[in-house]
Amino acid sequence: MQITINNNPVEVLAGETILEAARRTGYAIPSLCYAKGAVHKSSCMVCAVKNTVNGQIIPSCTTYPVEGMQITTDSEDVLLSRTLSLELLLSDHRADCEAPCSMVCPKGLDVEGMLGYYDAGQYDKAYNVIAGAFPLPEISCDTCKAPCEKACRRGTVDKAVSIRTIIKEVTGMGKDGFTLPGNEAQGKKEIQNRDEKENREKEKNMFQSRLGRFTEKEKNRLKEMVSTPSRCLHCACAGRTDCKLRLYATDGHIKRPRYNASSVLPVMNKVHVVGNMWFEQAKCIRCGLCVYNSENGFTFKDRGFGMQVILPEENRTHVSEELAELCPTGALYRSQL
Ligand code: SF4
Ligand code: SF4
Ligand code: SF4
Ligand code: FES
Repeated sequence: MQITINNNPVEVLAGETILEAARRTGYAIPSLCYAKGAVHKSSCMVCAVKNTVNGQIIPSCTTYPVEGMQITTDSEDVLLSRTLSLELLLSDHRADCEAPCSMVCPKGLDVEGMLGYYDAGQYDKAYNVIAGAFPLPEISCDTCKAPCEKACRRGTVDKAVSIRTIIKEVTGMGKDGFTLPGNEAQGKKEIQNRDEKENREKEKNMFQSRLGRFTEKEKNRLKEMVSTPSRCLHCACAGRTDCKLRLYATDGHIKRPRYNASSVLPVMNKVHVVGNMWFEQAKCIRCGLCVYNSENGFTFKDRGFGMQVILPEENRTHVSEELAELCPTGALYRSQL
């Protein structure tokens, strides 16, 4: 069967959807609730294309071609429809892509990443993150007014994390607590640190989600639950470098969410699933991939705008870590620590 995509003839293979035929022949179409080879249903509409024969905007991931279809993937109305779909998804997405402390550090220190290693007891790695931002780590923050501590979200719960004290502690340990890199290793580390710094600059120009203010209930829950040595809430999203929602929002020149719906989902609620796998419901866009591809694992609760994806306690053992690969956002992830 033949259809046209952007006025070019395309031969469709048996069983292919429009999205699959288009991608195979070199047309880029974004997708969130679709994953190749996985069970999926249309929900996000970011894969919208237009059939110019009848003027309909359709989800390309679940629509099968019919003879004579004329598909447009990049017209103005198609792009607008995708942008609107993204903006709706982002409207109740209360989360930070990047941690506020890292965003304001004048030296570009990945504060949250460093605190992550500190909390995991990986002090050499924490030291390396600091050394990547400061040529003389031991005196790194001595003349800084510490905007990181002013921006620290923990400060809105009770008291900001003492970031400078922890940096001092880690760099102090560096002298005899672990082996500092030698010359050759140092050279490699400098290249790696330079790349990380460039990446951080790039990240600052990417889409940033908006967490907003904690409710009293959320503050109380966080006060009781967060018991890491640094008391850091680990605001940055684990999916921030490969989250498709963030990448498409950035491609669509969306810097911040435009609409603000009041989400019912509990923020910063990190639930351990199995092994290294974690689930953070507030970052879930309810695409259903984890539901359709786990038997007696994840499931939907309620309907309409308040619909949630949940993992009942007794279902955790039915979920495999590989499921995290399907998640298009940072809602389901494998921790590197
Ligand atoms: S899930 Fe994506 S958009 Fe949401 S906070 Fe994480 S990186 Fe940002
Ligand atoms: S709680 Fe941790 S990640 Fe969040 S702003 Fe404070 S130091 Fe940064
Ligand atoms: S947690 Fe499940 S439903 Fe939510 S975004 Fe990830 S794969 Fe989709
Ligand atoms: S990818 Fe097609 S509707 Fe989500």
